Amino acid sequence: MGEKKGIEEKEEAMKIKKTSLVFAVNGERFELDLSSVDPSTTLIDFLRNKTPFKSVKLGCGEGGCGACVVLLSKYDPLLDKVDDFTVSSCLTLLCSIDGCSITTSEGLGNSRSGFHAVHERIAGFHATQCGFCTPGMSVSMFSALLNADKSSSPHDPPSNNGSSNLTAAEAEKAVSGNLCRCTGYRPLVDACKSFAKDVDIEDLGFNSFCKKGENRDDALKKLPCYDHTLSSTLFPEFLKKELKMDTSLDDSRTYRWSSPGSISELQSLLQLDDNGTMSVKLVAGNTSTGYYKEEKEKKYDRFIDIRRLPELTLVRRDEKGVELGAAVTISKAIEVLRGQKESVSVLAKLAAHMEKIASRFVRNTGTLGGNIMMAQRKQFPSDLTTILVAARATVKIMSVGSNVQEQFTLEEFLQQPPLEAKSLLVSVMIPSWRPLKNGSSSTDTHLLFETYRAAPRPLGNALAFLNAAFSAEVSLNQSRDGVVVNDCLLAFGAYGTKHAHRARKVEDYLVGKVISDEVLMEAISLLRDEIVPDKGTSNPGYRSSLAVTFLFEFFGSLATNGLLNGCKENGFESLKHEAMLSSAQQIVETQEHSPVGKGIVKAGAKLQASGEAVYVDDIPSPKDCLYGAFIYSTMPLARIKSIRFKENRVPEGVLGIITYKDIPKGGQNVGNKGFFASDLLFAEEITHCAGQIIAFLVAESQKLADIAVNLVVIDYDTEGLEPPILSVEEAVEKSSLFEVPPFLKSKPVGDINKGMAEAEHKILGSKISLGSQYFFYMETQTALAVPDEDNCMLVYSSTQAPEYVHRTIAGCLGVPEHNVRVITRRVGGGFGGKVMKAMPVATACALAATKMQRPVRTYVNRKTDMITTGGRHPMKIKYSVGFKSNGKVTALDLELLLDAGLSEDISPLMPSGIQGALMKYDWGAFSFDVKICKTNTVSRTAVRAPGDVQGSYIAEAIIEKVASYLSIDVDEIRKVNLHAYESLKLFYDKKAGESTEYTLPQLWEKLEEFSGFSQRRKVVDEFNASSRWRKRGISRVPAVYGVGLRLTPGRVSVLSDGSVVVEVPGIEIGQGLWTKVKQMAAFSLGLIQCSTTSDELLEKIRVIQADTLSMVQGSVTGGSTSSEASSEAVRICCGGLVERLLPVKTALEEKTGGPVTWDSLISQAYMQSVNMSVSNTYSPDFGTQYLNYGVAASEVEVNILTGETTVLRTDIIYDCGKSLNPAVDLGQIEGAFVQGLGFFMLEEYLMNSDGLIVTDSTWTYKIPTVDTIPRQFNVEILNSGHHKNRVLSSKASGEPPLLLASSVHCAVRAAVKEAKKQTVTWSDDNQEGVVDLSFELPVPATMPVVKELCGLNVVEKYLDWKIKQRKNI
Ligand SMILES: Cc1cc2nc3c(=O)[nH]c(=O)nc-3n(C[C@H](O)[C@H](O)[C@H](O)COP(=O)(O)OP(=O)(O)OC[C@H]3O[C@@H](n4cnc5c(N)ncnc54)[C@H](O)[C@@H]3O)c2cc1C
Ligand code: FES
Ligand code: FES
Repeated sequence: MGEKKGIEEKEEAMKIKKTSLVFAVNGERFELDLSSVDPSTTLIDFLRNKTPFKSVKLGCGEGGCGACVVLLSKYDPLLDKVDDFTVSSCLTLLCSIDGCSITTSEGLGNSRSGFHAVHERIAGFHATQCGFCTPGMSVSMFSALLNADKSSSPHDPPSNNGSSNLTAAEAEKAVSGNLCRCTGYRPLVDACKSFAKDVDIEDLGFNSFCKKGENRDDALKKLPCYDHTLSSTLFPEFLKKELKMDTSLDDSRTYRWSSPGSISELQSLLQLDDNGTMSVKLVAGNTSTGYYKEEKEKKYDRFIDIRRLPELTLVRRDEKGVELGAAVTISKAIEVLRGQKESVSVLAKLAAHMEKIASRFVRNTGTLGGNIMMAQRKQFPSDLTTILVAARATVKIMSVGSNVQEQFTLEEFLQQPPLEAKSLLVSVMIPSWRPLKNGSSSTDTHLLFETYRAAPRPLGNALAFLNAAFSAEVSLNQSRDGVVVNDCLLAFGAYGTKHAHRARKVEDYLVGKVISDEVLMEAISLLRDEIVPDKGTSNPGYRSSLAVTFLFEFFGSLATNGLLNGCKENGFESLKHEAMLSSAQQIVETQEHSPVGKGIVKAGAKLQASGEAVYVDDIPSPKDCLYGAFIYSTMPLARIKSIRFKENRVPEGVLGIITYKDIPKGGQNVGNKGFFASDLLFAEEITHCAGQIIAFLVAESQKLADIAVNLVVIDYDTEGLEPPILSVEEAVEKSSLFEVPPFLKSKPVGDINKGMAEAEHKILGSKISLGSQYFFYMETQTALAVPDEDNCMLVYSSTQAPEYVHRTIAGCLGVPEHNVRVITRRVGGGFGGKVMKAMPVATACALAATKMQRPVRTYVNRKTDMITTGGRHPMKIKYSVGFKSNGKVTALDLELLLDAGLSEDISPLMPSGIQGALMKYDWGAFSFDVKICKTNTVSRTAVRAPGDVQGSYIAEAIIEKVASYLSIDVDEIRKVNLHAYESLKLFYDKKAGESTEYTLPQLWEKLEEFSGFSQRRKVVDEFNASSRWRKRGISRVPAVYGVGLRLTPGRVSVLSDGSVVVEVPGIEIGQGLWTKVKQMAAFSLGLIQCSTTSDELLEKIRVIQADTLSMVQGSVTGGSTSSEASSEAVRICCGGLVERLLPVKTALEEKTGGPVTWDSLISQAYMQSVNMSVSNTYSPDFGTQYLNYGVAASEVEVNILTGETTVLRTDIIYDCGKSLNPAVDLGQIEGAFVQGLGFFMLEEYLMNSDGLIVTDSTWTYKIPTVDTIPRQFNVEILNSGHHKNRVLSSKASGEPPLLLASSVHCAVRAAVKEAKKQTVTWSDDNQEGVVDLSFELPVPATMPVVKELCGLNVVEKYLDWKIKQRKNI
């Protein structure tokens, strides 16, 4: 031992000593003096703050979104081999990338050196909207291509026509861990699939490269070429050379970061801590800081990277099993386990389960040891420990100051007290599979192993509600008529338990038993007592029922099918849907106003993909810039006694805390000056809701500010204060209500008493409740304020309403509005959340900048954003409905309590939104009473389709209720109640337009054919009759959505070289506004009819950022019509220019005797001093209010054992009028639908009993991912032709399609109904036909919700029924 140590020391001494970190970013060499680097610095901190590479976006900071993904390449000088894999730069520590090469999206290609094929295909497949997620998507796709080509055989080179060795299935998984809130994922997947070798380009979605029906070879040629050989040159030669030199860090003891190469070196580092006061952090992948975020803020004296320790990286396979070092990454472990030959597929099943842990970019650095230690020390709900306990894994542990390694079973280790911080988990051993019982090696003996998990997202990126893994040895019993359990091990985890738990009582009971229904029933009853989630765990009943489900699934088939090939495959239908995603689009591109009407690529799409598109936080910080973070209340109603720091010590880098007291004289404490009343910027003496902003802490960096706010203590006092109002009922009782202005008050239709009197049936006082939804824009709230001369302030704000931001800032600072200038170039997703909620963010920055006289910026972290911004309005609805026996409704009377939260915000607009969508059916007579309740919760605001989505859903819920009551098919009830044009007019008045505009009945009929609705309903019925544990439902719904256009200014200026600058107040939030505006400008300027075509003019046009001093009266981007209105304003301006240019053109033509080009026309105009800038305003009249129509049919499959829903297919037909750009509108339709899917199925925005939002991270708030969208997603955009009152006959597409997602919810309800009907047949008195099928399916219909309605004890019911049946026979 001593000799070995001596050799190691000598070898170490021979190495060249270095004192710095060396790595490459996009081929550029970086060298950082190690003593100057704070080891807690993450890679994203470095890239965004110290390099020009801003494509790396911060979406969550917890490994949950993929916006920050980069490619990390590692070179092995011995093997001369490069490993390339994705990592989340928000979790990767900068020091850990020593010797590595990092490639960001702009490193793959960019506007200067040429875009990469990935960027070009993303753009061409119309796969960007706000573009904030796109650089991360690009890198994830590129990595998938790179690794597919590397792993392919050399005899199978990628074709050189632009495809790679990637398969379509791999392409679908390439972005499975990346979140996108805008696109709905389908076009992203298609862009990635376009590289796959097994994909027919014909099967991919609408794109700018090839048209349907085009010759395949021609089409392929048009795809931007992907040259896989170029990818292998990514690792810089200079770094290879340096790595070939034998270097090691100079005396690692002198730095806070060290990376020991041997256990002895590690021990000597640990021994530096003589008196035990040194805080040490062992680091592997560092991904645990995504979950334990407080870890990022802890100050450690020393970080020790353990990934170079040979014992921790070993991979050993022998007859005893597979031993994996603790620092082996989960991805590597999957690869190793997959590569093993074994008789029972334990290792392959472990690998398959591991693939559902986190996302690929987390698994690539997250290690086995890290995961196990999180579980052991902090009771992390690990998958790994559960499956490894079931595989009887053992672990080796090395304690502090000892070289001795001890071995324990993983199960024992987990139960030990938390391992000391300086002790080491060395390796994990997965033993080879042997018969468990002596002498049970006959051919009748089978070894079974299976793993399970139920989580909101099937492909991972979501913690499990419960996971399980079972092993068993079973054989045929003596009489060979049953299966006996010789031994078994049943492990369960993540259900609200400290550690993976073995259900020993069940194991003991089962051993020696012949599996039968009776035995299973008894085992389940024992299991129910064993798997009991800890107090405070969400959905405890659901989690326990999952344990039953999985046990039943494992042993159930043995009871019925005997010993065939295992468990899962027999007796149970496959519970997963491996079918590939598919889609179809029917789109009409029009030429009449070309390039308007064409599906051209979104302006700036490639820049978004490469990450060069500049968002507010990408603007370099001005000199002396400071950074702010919000301090918010955690109490619903309390007096603020004091704001101080823990231990009364001001944290490092903090310059001050700004409160309402800092508002300058003449200014007001105003955080938003909205449409109705304004709201406070900061709470004053009293805070009125949890989540209300109390103060703004200012520090030297964003990191320091974010750390420091967590050290703030607010002393509250509630003495003498009334209890807070935390429910709408309390608000009504205390008359805590906001007024609806008379012009927004809902008006009844018809005579409700008469309608009720005509009814043959009535449902009275039925109730519905709806919760909230968070925007989940990928770019959180952000602003930068820069003080200027003479008390002026320049503010860059990520907002949908720069004009209102401007007014608010001026009001707060007490300066004339001309002292303020607000600039917004683009927004990384808004969805309504950056209208009102952006104002306090920009205002706080401006106030702090005024006080400090330095620039101040903030990029609000995800948690604070989720807690302070509020989201959608929750509401409670009570209704009475009267109807005829055929289902025709004669009267509907609704009372609605809307939870507005603390301030008015846009709440008074909500009733008209709700009513507008609700009236999609002919209710006969209709009355509607809405109370807007003021509660002590955070103020609610507009979220995409505010009010309309709830209104549309309420209508469907009522229709469903009527159908259940009458036992008539719900589709019939819908049909019977669809408006005729006359009733439409009655309900919508002028908005209904002319009869020819009412296209809904036409869409309804068309959908029948488009989706094969009737035929598929039969197939669904057949399926349900034969499938016990999976039920399907299919449903179609209509949507009606009213919009109105607003006054909108614009300016078009032509520069001397003929290039054109367009200014509109509308903000590019991802909805394609710039693109439509550009198209309109090109068309309108093209009317001059010079020899330069409109399509050529398109290239000359640039839409520039919104600037509130340049363009006043900009109002708000929202309500789905800003693109149309901005386009129309531009059309008017261009008309003015054309008018001025026409005489010049005529004269020029006469002079030259031929057609003139645009450029020569413009130079002539300049020579003649023609005014080349036109501003004008579009002032719509009432005629520009209109209704949008769409229909959707969705088919789902519900797994009634787990509550999981798979959306098998969705068909949408949407009337876009004459679409200004069908590619953009298609993106809006799909993206809105998927966001709606999130509202109806997944997203829970929950509060605690004080009204504080608790689902405040990507861990707890689940937006849809690529694995939760419809497997087949078909969209037809109906071109419903000309209409004089609309902008070039176009219609809106931003919000209305979101309403159609209720089709999924309704289909789930239909499936649950089938499950309920089936369960009744298993009950004692078999009451089929009298089962109450009028249940309300809550929104969102999450897995626990669905399972609860299907029956938490459905397995027991079934077994009980079977047993009784048999006994009766
Ligand atoms: C977004 C996301 C989703 C996730 N989803 C899942 C999931 O669904 N299921 C699941 O099971 N896991 C999940 N995880 C957890 C993930 O598997 C772990 O974060 C990862 O394996 C930890 O490994 P690491 O190397 O990054 O650990 P690190 O973060 O480096 O270390 C974790 C802790 O263990 C200590 N440590 C590390 N290695 C050793 C060692 N060898 N000896 C002693 N101490 C050590 C460290 O000091 C630290 O305290 C998820 C993680 C993220 C970020
Ligand atoms: S920012 Fe890193 S994963 Fe979200
Ligand atoms: S385009 Fe993906 S988040 Fe906006």
